[in-house]
Amino acid sequence: MKFKSKNTITVQELRTLLESKSPVKILDVRPEEERSEWKIIESTFVNVYEALKKGKRELFKNIEFSENVPVVTLCSAGKTSMIAMEQLREEGIEAYSLEGGMQAWTTAYNMAQTTDKEGTTILQIRRTGKGCLSYIVENNGEAIVIDPSLSIDVYQSIADKKKWKIKYVLDTHIHADHFSRAMELSVKTKAKLLLPEQKLVKYTYNAITDGMVVNFGKAALKAIHCPGHTQESFCYLIGNESLLTGDTLFTKGVGRPDLKASKEKAKIKASLLFESIQKILQLSADTMIYPGHVSEPIAFDEVLIGDTLKNIKESVDLLNYSKEGFITSLLRNIPETPPNYESIVELNKEGRAKEDELIELEAGANRCAVS
Ligand SMILES: [Fe+2]
Repeated sequence: MKFKSKNTITVQELRTLLESKSPVKILDVRPEEERSEWKIIESTFVNVYEALKKGKRELFKNIEFSENVPVVTLCSAGKTSMIAMEQLREEGIEAYSLEGGMQAWTTAYNMAQTTDKEGTTILQIRRTGKGCLSYIVENNGEAIVIDPSLSIDVYQSIADKKKWKIKYVLDTHIHADHFSRAMELSVKTKAKLLLPEQKLVKYTYNAITDGMVVNFGKAALKAIHCPGHTQESFCYLIGNESLLTGDTLFTKGVGRPDLKASKEKAKIKASLLFESIQKILQLSADTMIYPGHVSEPIAFDEVLIGDTLKNIKESVDLLNYSKEGFITSLLRNIPETPPNYESIVELNKEGRAKEDELIELEAGANRCAVS
């Protein structure tokens, strides 16, 4: 095992093991309530947090370990997991502690992709812990990156490996749950930065307006203004087959309309969201919907997160309500306000952030959807 000389494993190393389907046993030693918030889907929960803190021993007796399968211990910041790792090593088990714990895992990602009838590749890049989805769509070697939320090296290295030229970088809206890397990526790749028209960001960009068409390779992206989740939200239709919906429509719900809004304003935003959803429902029923988030961790299964408009309409009751019913139900079921959203919006307006600051700000599950 290549990590034997050290006590810890990095997020990147663990991510690579999971991506390559190498056997690994991940033991989550956090308190149960923290795990219920968010987790690594491939991990096993062991209820030993308090016992580890108290210095108790022989805590892993009932767990089955296989030879040649390394164990990775996991906690919220990588401290308690070191104690677990040491105990396991004393028992002769090849164990490593995940550096930085779940906080650091917020930057881990995996991928899934498909090709549409026009030969456009839709590559979905998923932050496995946080549930943020970004996309690279490519046709004939020309690519558009949408909603980049990870280090720009991720997008650059994927494009380089596939010999794709990043021509444009887009965001669906000004995000409140993650720092957008769109500006930085566009500067680094000399791609054109296209953002929904708004007066929030303090840096220069090219404005996206309703109905605008962006050509890449032999394909085209059409911008559809869908206010509601935020005033400036856009959805992007790729070749009449796929719709990247940002936080407007998810596979199991719709975007939340309330952030930064009073009750009255939230009602207006919910009404706008209803109209935007009606716009989307006019599209062909077999349009594939690819959202900007999911609310649960994403497995390393290479299965695209998305569904047909028809299936979503059948399973999400909200999409079949009258305007009044939609607004009432939406406002009744809004989830808890996500942590740090105001600070994240401020950073997105500035277009600048410090990497270590971001790990703490962005940690935690996504709470963008109402179902
Ligand atoms: Fe959002």
